[in-house]
Amino acid sequence: MRRVIAFLLLAGLLGPASGCQSRSGDRASGPAERRGTNVNPWVVGMSQSNLGEPWRVQMNADIAQAALRYPNLKVVFKDAQNDSLRQRAQVEELVSQKIDLLIISPKETAPLTAPVAEAYKKKIPVIVLDREVNGDQYTSFIGADNKKIGREAGKFVGKLLGGKGTIVELKGLMTSSPGQDRHSGFIDGLELGKNPDLKVVFEADMQWLEPNARKEMESALAAHKQIDLVYAHNDPGAHGAYLAAREAGREKSMKFIGIDALPHEGVAYVKQGLLDATFLYPTGGDEAVRMALRVLNGDKVEKRVTLGTRLFKKDNAEKGGEAIP
Ligand code: FRU
Repeated sequence: MRRVIAFLLLAGLLGPASGCQSRSGDRASGPAERRGTNVNPWVVGMSQSNLGEPWRVQMNADIAQAALRYPNLKVVFKDAQNDSLRQRAQVEELVSQKIDLLIISPKETAPLTAPVAEAYKKKIPVIVLDREVNGDQYTSFIGADNKKIGREAGKFVGKLLGGKGTIVELKGLMTSSPGQDRHSGFIDGLELGKNPDLKVVFEADMQWLEPNARKEMESALAAHKQIDLVYAHNDPGAHGAYLAAREAGREKSMKFIGIDALPHEGVAYVKQGLLDATFLYPTGGDEAVRMALRVLNGDKVEKRVTLGTRLFKKDNAEKGGEAIP
């Protein structure tokens, strides 16, 4: 923990003295001076939907660390504290501060579509990370293929259960694209037409949050004597479900699958035997900073960059999991 705090301090993620605040007022140069130099760096606004989950803290840390490579670039971080309206206001604030480029990991698809499009129309390049917005009014989207991850999870679960069993699905926020895609992909991957003995007996939206997942799992346990497997859309959700099952003395009779695979979270749970598997969901932070530099330098960039995934389970976690083609 101390190491994490030390790193965040170094990376400028904590506290107002971080140097990652608005640069208005500390730009010594006049308007004529060219941006993108060490004296007058590019200013990138980073709008994060929340910092309450380890995966998002990691995304910001990846961005801050990548930015250290470029002295001609400064990142201004905003934390919307899991509130779409606050995130919208923060995007508008960044735009009015005349940032050179916006990186956003939106909380929800619909409410953040308009502010992103507004920024883009004002000629501010926008890189959307991880969760999608509607339409195409942004520069580039970077993220893993959540439908594919869901499908791979479904196939994996079908095999693990030998084509027969009762499943609990704890969904991520269904107003966000990864929640929708991890669900539809999973149902595809289960191939229920071919595997009629696989049954999803309980499903709930735990909104990506561990405490919600724990509560929902308590309801699932109360309603179902037999649960063979829990598929949660992220590792905090899978961990919350595990804790509820352990509380009820039933954790050994079921399997737990999650998504994210942070080394100190999901992968650690797999190594400890709490989860049976987790799928890597890369943050894309490093890729976003590299792309930001290319955009600012006037290069043409891909409209969509799809990041890969990996599967971590007990027998391969120590070796770094396995790639999924
Ligand atoms: C963090 C998180 C991750 C998940 C991602 C999906 O807020 O819930 O756990 O993989 O968002 O956007």
